[in-house]
Amino acid sequence: MEFPKDFFWGAATSAYQVEGNNIYCDWWEWEKRVGLKEASGPACQHYQRYKEDFDLAKGLNHNAHRLSIEWSRIEPEQGQFSTKEIDHYVDVILSLRERNLEPIVTLHHFTNPLWFAKLGGWQNRNTLPYFLRYVEKIVHALSDKVRFWVTINEPMVYVHSAYIVGSWPPQERSFLKAHTVINNLLNTHIKAYNLIHNIYSRKGLSSPLVSIAKNMLPFVPCNLNLKNKFSAFLRNRSYNLAFIEKLIRHRSLDFVGVNYYTRHLVDVEKWSFRSFMLDVCQRNHQPLKKNSLGWDIYPEGLYRILLRLKKYNLPIFILENGICTEDDNARWDFIYQHLKNLHLAMSEGVRVLGYIYWSLIDNFEWDKGFGPRFGLAETDYNTYKRTARDSAKRFCAVSKTGVLD
Ligand code: FCB
Repeated sequence: MEFPKDFFWGAATSAYQVEGNNIYCDWWEWEKRVGLKEASGPACQHYQRYKEDFDLAKGLNHNAHRLSIEWSRIEPEQGQFSTKEIDHYVDVILSLRERNLEPIVTLHHFTNPLWFAKLGGWQNRNTLPYFLRYVEKIVHALSDKVRFWVTINEPMVYVHSAYIVGSWPPQERSFLKAHTVINNLLNTHIKAYNLIHNIYSRKGLSSPLVSIAKNMLPFVPCNLNLKNKFSAFLRNRSYNLAFIEKLIRHRSLDFVGVNYYTRHLVDVEKWSFRSFMLDVCQRNHQPLKKNSLGWDIYPEGLYRILLRLKKYNLPIFILENGICTEDDNARWDFIYQHLKNLHLAMSEGVRVLGYIYWSLIDNFEWDKGFGPRFGLAETDYNTYKRTARDSAKRFCAVSKTGVLD
């Protein structure tokens, strides 16, 4: 199985999950307030060790790397921008460029400055200009070094966790609030998209490629009864497609960023809106292998999703795909099976720019703490030493040759 010569191969991280000590962030305050079992603390000390981490990626023959900028570092207090932190990220991006790693830069990966959250965060429509002001600053500083921008990471996962099931700050459980936040995120992306393009054209730089990272979930009806089929259809529309389609209508996607992990087996228990939108089969019908968080491993889902996206006629970039496991052979098997399905989709005409594995190193998995191990390299949380796993070396062989045996 051969991949194109100019294909991007790499791994991803996000600022809050690896940097450590993001003390001005809403998550930092929340972890302590609710007494999260494991708080992020120094995380992986990536803030100090980014060069070492990029050497690791380079050594594994990656040619791209996805990371995020922590807004709360850039603007720790409302309206106070830190030149020191902007310079830090300039150095981060230059360090990637020096190693010939194409930077893919995310502007919002789940976390907010605490001051922004206190103003009502994404529920408050009046806060939109604040995000744009931050985008303007950071894009201005990095525009001559970055081609790929991701405005918002997984808007629907964020809304689901923070506003529907309430497991992340601000822990709301309201479809109404979720609806407001979705609209706000949509408008934010459209405005940020235009802003980024304007900055590049003002500076006479060639056009950037701007998108979101969209988590995609195949919704598979458990029993083929009408209730399950209708619910799966509805969830596919509202969770997978509605956000992307709106952005396409506004001509504000240059490619489709796809994050893919698992499927949901739809089994609707009750006739309530919540059940209809959220119920997942608990009885382990149609069992599949699972990752250490219990998510089904469903590689053919990637193929199905990619073929579904083909009709939009935009290039696709896999921006996250990965497994948390204690068994590194299972990790290689996961990567292998997903690359196989990716290749199959490409052989049927789906245009894909690259494949980014989640994650480069084990890191802070949000409310689940440091237990889940997603890394190509193991992080030792006592010494902060990184050790590339065998799966990383096997993935390296694929990125080196562009061939999957
Ligand atoms: C995705 C997130 C990422 C990471 C992986 C496991 O939903 O974008 O930050 O937590 O899941």
